[in-house]
Amino acid sequence: MPTFRSQDIPDLQDQVIIVTVGNVGLGYETIRQLSEHNPARVYLASRSQTKPEQTIVELKSVKAAAADFVRQESRLGILINNAGIMMTPEDVAEDGYEIYFGINVLGPALFTQLLLPTLRKTAKVNSQTRMVMLSSAAHARVPIDVYKFDELRTSASQPTALAARETEVKIIPVHPGIVATNLHHASPGTFLRTFLYAAIFLAATPIEKGALSQIFATVSPTVKHGQYYGPVGKAESGSKLSQNHDLQEELFRWIQGELSGHVETIS
Ligand SMILES: NC(=O)c1ccc[n+]([C@@H]2O[C@H](COP(=O)([O-])OP(=O)(O)OC[C@H]3O[C@@H](n4cnc5c(N)ncnc54)[C@H](OP(=O)(O)O)[C@@H]3O)[C@@H](O)[C@H]2O)c1
Repeated sequence: MPTFRSQDIPDLQDQVIIVTVGNVGLGYETIRQLSEHNPARVYLASRSQTKPEQTIVELKSVKAAAADFVRQESRLGILINNAGIMMTPEDVAEDGYEIYFGINVLGPALFTQLLLPTLRKTAKVNSQTRMVMLSSAAHARVPIDVYKFDELRTSASQPTALAARETEVKIIPVHPGIVATNLHHASPGTFLRTFLYAAIFLAATPIEKGALSQIFATVSPTVKHGQYYGPVGKAESGSKLSQNHDLQEELFRWIQGELSGHVETIS
C-alpha cells in the first residue's frame, strides 16, 4: 500500500479545482491541504458561505452551479464530488427524489455530466484530468435487492459504469474510512446518536489524515481510471453487489433516463 502524506501533494500550478461542499468536514480539509500547493483557482460548491444557502440537492440548483462555473472558466482539471449525507432522517427533495439518492448519487451524476465537456477539453492538455467521487464502505451493507427504483437507494456502482464509458477523463471512486467529521450529527434517536459520537471519538481517523484518501485520488498520477480506492490509496474491489455488471448498467441507464432533459445523456 503506498504511503501518502500531505507533503507528497505535487505543485498544482494551473489547476482549476471544484470541491462540492468545501466549507466543512473532509471537503474543507481537502481544500485546505490542496491550497498549500499553489492551485490556480479552487471553487467551493455549497449551500452558503457559512451554512449552505445554494442547495445542491435539487437538479435545478446543480444546473445553476455548473452554468455559473462554465461562464467563468474554460478549463477544469479536478472535480471532487464530496457532498454527501449520512444518518439524516428520511426525506424527499423538491424534485421528488429520495434525499440520499438525490444528494449522494443523482446530483453528482448531473454535475459531472454538465462539466464533462470542460473536463474533456482540459484532458486534451492535461492527461491527469479527473473526477473523484466520494463513496462509503457502508455501501457493502445495502440490502440484496439493492435498486428498487421506487425507493432509490445508493451504492458505489454509478462511477464504475461511467468509467467504463469515459475515455478521456479519469473517473475515481474513493471511500475515506471512518473520519471524525460532522457526518453523523443529524442521526435520529438519542441512543444511536450517543453510540455514534462514542464510536467516532474512539475509532475515527482525525480529519487531517482522513482527507488524504481523497487527496491521493485527486493528485496522484498513479491512480487508475475506474479503480475504487480506500484509505489511503489502497485499491479495493467494493462489495459483490457493487461489482455486479448488470446492476451497474441498470442503475446507469435509469439515471440517464432521469437526467435526460437536463444534460446530454451518455449511452
Ligand atoms: N466522515 C466519514 O467517516 C465518511 C465515511 C465515508 C464517506 N464519507 C463521505 O465523505 C464526504 C464528506 O463527508 P464529511 O464526513 O466531510 O461530512 P460532513 O462533515 O457532514 O460534511 C458534509 C457537509 O455537506 C453538506 N451537504 C451535504 N449534501 C449537500 C448538498 N447537496 N448541498 C449542499 N450541502 C450539502 C452538509 O450540510 P448539512 O450539514 O446542512 O447537511 C454537511 O455540512 C461525503 O460524501 C460522505 O458520504 C465520509
